[in-house]
Amino acid sequence: MKTNQKIAVFVLSIALNLIIIISPVQSNQTYAILEKSVFLLPKGISRFVQEKQKYHYVGIEKCASVCHNKEEMGFQFNIMKNGPHSQAFKILASKRALHYAKNANAKVDPQESTICLKCHVTGGGLDSSFFTATYKKDDGVTCEACHKGAYITKTFLPTETDCLTCHNDSVHKISKFDFKDKSKKIAHPRPKGELKKI
Ligand code: HEC
Ligand code: HEC
Ligand code: HEC
Repeated sequence: MKTNQKIAVFVLSIALNLIIIISPVQSNQTYAILEKSVFLLPKGISRFVQEKQKYHYVGIEKCASVCHNKEEMGFQFNIMKNGPHSQAFKILASKRALHYAKNANAKVDPQESTICLKCHVTGGGLDSSFFTATYKKDDGVTCEACHKGAYITKTFLPTETDCLTCHNDSVHKISKFDFKDKSKKIAHPRPKGELKKI
């Protein structure tokens, strides 16, 4: 790209991203297009914009259909589907869940209670304006819960602090959280070496 083309793309991207920050209401489709323009910005600025904007959760199927169910990427979708986080919403229908719900004074079915959904689904039981049509709470804790959003996994890799926002016993007892050990159990790395063009 020539320098003046680069400048034009940069200015356009800033304009698009200002719309994201300033206007809280957009259709999901418009939002998705605007959101991708974040990548035209330099890394530091794009991170800032991503933190300011209202995020719309797209759901795990979308991550799979875009990139993450391919061998060259490392089959993250399959790994997550077979991992513990995929059961996080379903286990709220168990007997044990009713017991925890009673102790926590949750007045409704655990699968409807924001007290429980806070850690048992992606998006923590926010109202529907935060979700696109492809999001399903049945999928439990998915990519966006840890990577803070679709399209931004390149810039956001979760650390122990992020796990601890859910892996704590503020509502019920949980097993001891050893970051190294627990991370191994859910590991879903990209294959080593150069990432092939996909
Ligand atoms: C602060 C985050 C958080 C909240 C809020 C929360 N949970 Fe959990 N829950 C977890 C985590 C983390 C686990 C994984 C358990 C482990 O690592 O031992 C879990 C596991 C469970 C399990 C399966 C394991 C077991 O102990 O049988 C049930 C059932 C459960 N939660 C029900 C509930 C219910 C019902 C509510 C609402 C009253 C709730 N949880 C609220 C974080 C949370
Ligand atoms: C429970 C939290 C959690 C969930 C859910 C999760 N991830 Fe991750 N992901 C991580 C952690 C932790 C790492 C390793 C971070 C590091 O290496 O510093 C990681 C690493 C990755 C990497 C490798 C990044 C790299 O640069 O090599 C990719 C790609 C990825 N995740 C995609 C996904 C996708 C797609 C999903 C959903 C299908 C998903 N993740 C679900 C926590 C999660
Ligand atoms: C949005 C909340 C949330 C976040 C963030 C989260 N988890 Fe979990 N995690 C859960 C819930 C809820 C369960 C229980 C699911 C079940 O038992 O089916 C769970 C279960 C697990 C389990 C299986 C049970 C156990 O404790 O051995 C592992 C391993 C795990 N998480 C690792 C991680 C790691 C590592 C991170 C950070 C990279 C992380 N989780 C981030 C909510 C979360």
